[in-house]
Amino acid sequence: GIRCCIFDLDGVIVDTAKYHYLAWKRLADSLGVTFTEQDNELLKGVSRVESLKIILKLGQTSLDAPQFEQALVQKNEWYLEYIAQLDASEILPGAEAVLSQARDAGMKIALGSASKNAVLILKRLNLLDRFDAIIDGNKVTHAKPDPEVFLNAASAVDVAPSDCLVFEDAAAGVEAALNAKMKVIGLGEAEVLGRATLVLPDLAEQQLNHMIAQL
Ligand code: G6P
Ligand code: MG
Repeated sequence: GIRCCIFDLDGVIVDTAKYHYLAWKRLADSLGVTFTEQDNELLKGVSRVESLKIILKLGQTSLDAPQFEQALVQKNEWYLEYIAQLDASEILPGAEAVLSQARDAGMKIALGSASKNAVLILKRLNLLDRFDAIIDGNKVTHAKPDPEVFLNAASAVDVAPSDCLVFEDAAAGVEAALNAKMKVIGLGEAEVLGRATLVLPDLAEQQLNHMIAQL
């Protein structure tokens, strides 16, 4: 059975996906690259470096190494500006309840996020102490869809991958979980997340035991 829940952060626990999009959009505009909300689906769950590579590819353009670094810094500065007011009111509906249900069921709880801002954000949301392990963008070398982030999370709480359930809002994250041989609940649209074990629109009104019974 499931003994560990691994949560993605952006778009699963907190509504930061829109701020990532705004910051990337602003950067793309500054580079003269057309970037739509549909293009943004490709960036969800993907590391900062890989995201910039995707944007440059979309625009069929390139940056030299110092410009590339500068663009990464600029995007994060804008992103941090957008989340300056972030607080617990932006925890996504149902997320806190599912965290509590996992805790009450005696499960391990881990974070598996590509974000280097994960700890800062969890502190702002007052959720840091809900996690037994935090594997974030500072701890992994291979971006989703590589399974590294989820495998490291499972190993940090000493649970076999087959006993882990991942919650993800991104296609790359669903693939990463499948590559880790874990069950995965995709939160969002079936067209994007169809390969997940189960797809739900979001966590609102969801009960952990009911979700697990459907896997
Ligand atoms: C998450 C988000 C991505 C973001 C990535 C890196 O996976 O879904 O949109 O690019 O984290 O986040 P960071 O905060 O390190 O730029
Ligand atoms: Mg996400």
